[in-house]
Amino acid sequence: METNPSPLSAKHESSFAYGTVKDRMPRILTKVIDVCHKQIQSSKECFGEDGRKDAIDVVGKLSQLRSEIMTDKPLFALDDQLKDKEAWNKRLQQYSNDSPASWFTAPWLYVECFMYRRIAGVLNSSTYLKTFDPFAEQKQQSLMQSMTAVENLATFLHSVKQSVKVNDTAMLKQFFVDFLQVSLWGNKCDLSISAGEENSQNVSEPHKNLEALKKFILIDYSNDVWNLILKQKKRKDQVRIDVVLDNAGFELFTDLVLCEFLLFFNLADVIIIHPKCIPWFVSDVNASDLNWMLSYLSSCSFEEVSQLSTKLQERFKDGSMLLMKNDFWTLPDPFCLMNESSSELYKYFSSSDLVLFKGDLNYRKLVGDLDWPHDTSFKMALRHFSPTSLCSLRTLKADVVVGLKPGQAKLLAKECKEWMVNGQYAVIESNIIC
Ligand code: F6P
Ligand code: MG
Repeated sequence: METNPSPLSAKHESSFAYGTVKDRMPRILTKVIDVCHKQIQSSKECFGEDGRKDAIDVVGKLSQLRSEIMTDKPLFALDDQLKDKEAWNKRLQQYSNDSPASWFTAPWLYVECFMYRRIAGVLNSSTYLKTFDPFAEQKQQSLMQSMTAVENLATFLHSVKQSVKVNDTAMLKQFFVDFLQVSLWGNKCDLSISAGEENSQNVSEPHKNLEALKKFILIDYSNDVWNLILKQKKRKDQVRIDVVLDNAGFELFTDLVLCEFLLFFNLADVIIIHPKCIPWFVSDVNASDLNWMLSYLSSCSFEEVSQLSTKLQERFKDGSMLLMKNDFWTLPDPFCLMNESSSELYKYFSSSDLVLFKGDLNYRKLVGDLDWPHDTSFKMALRHFSPTSLCSLRTLKADVVVGLKPGQAKLLAKECKEWMVNGQYAVIESNIIC
């Protein structure tokens, strides 16, 4: 029988989880409360006294949530109108055997996701703020603050499209690796790690920085991913790639640039992207963030940017790109449970040629957010989650990582105390099914 390591949890005071639950989560909630507080006036102007009371009620419930976290209250079963509540309650029961699980004692993955699910439940219970995204403005700001990098990256893609021949495999491989790495480093810019503080792209020419960053990629299976794509291209008429998105703003732009590169050079025929359905971990992409970004960039005066954005909009119209929504992404489940809790999604992935998982939270869910020895193989940590070939592009922002060489973690700790959590290091880990 397989015995698994224990889940990461805030009960260990020296853990990154502890700092997250104690400081980062209340700070994020304070910002959400402030943003909703501003809605009191605007709701009054739009909907009168009813609107004012509605927004006040939201602020009150969110303040209550913050206090529950800060005083480590027991987690209680959800009792709202959102349709995934039974799935949440079922998991919670499993953590509450002898005594009720609380914010600091339950698995960190559950607790951190639970906070965002509770925020969504509160907003959904209101009359006028049902679809209000308290993070929308921050997400938009983070893109606007990265526009120099956006322009340079769009120019780079444009020049690659102009100069590289579709049959020049050697060149294509080189640029595939470049765009994959740009998308990887785009993951540095999430707003959850910075507790909602500005965290935009601060490198103006991201593609020129790749060489210097190579030494921070601890595991790199991009070669295997490239070989898989070539092999599938030879074998099949239609190659499908799925991208499970992470953050809006600059990271989303880098993901779409990678998609456009793959489609333009016929390395993929269709790309399906998977966003979140509720406001999530501050900066995660919702469908409305994608739409906002594409229309914002389409009207930009920088030609390469507006052209690219218009091209992407066309791709969503002609079906070479699709957006697919699923509530599974905002459950607290590790991906090894996908087949149980969302079998139709698991089955859907089985017909994909490759699934790219972006970011830290997706990585935590891939490996179950367990306290694995760092030299555990990625395949073992996936615990039979294997619908098709998959690859994770992640900068390290949580104290879990697998697939390192024996002894490598010790050396890294000497090099940089914060190596697992400060986003400076990254991995490209894959499980390729031949
Ligand atoms: O709040 C911290 C955290 O859970 C970290 O794991 C990570 O830094 C962040 O949230 C989410 O990161 P990402 O956007 O890369 O999934
Ligand atoms: Mg994120």
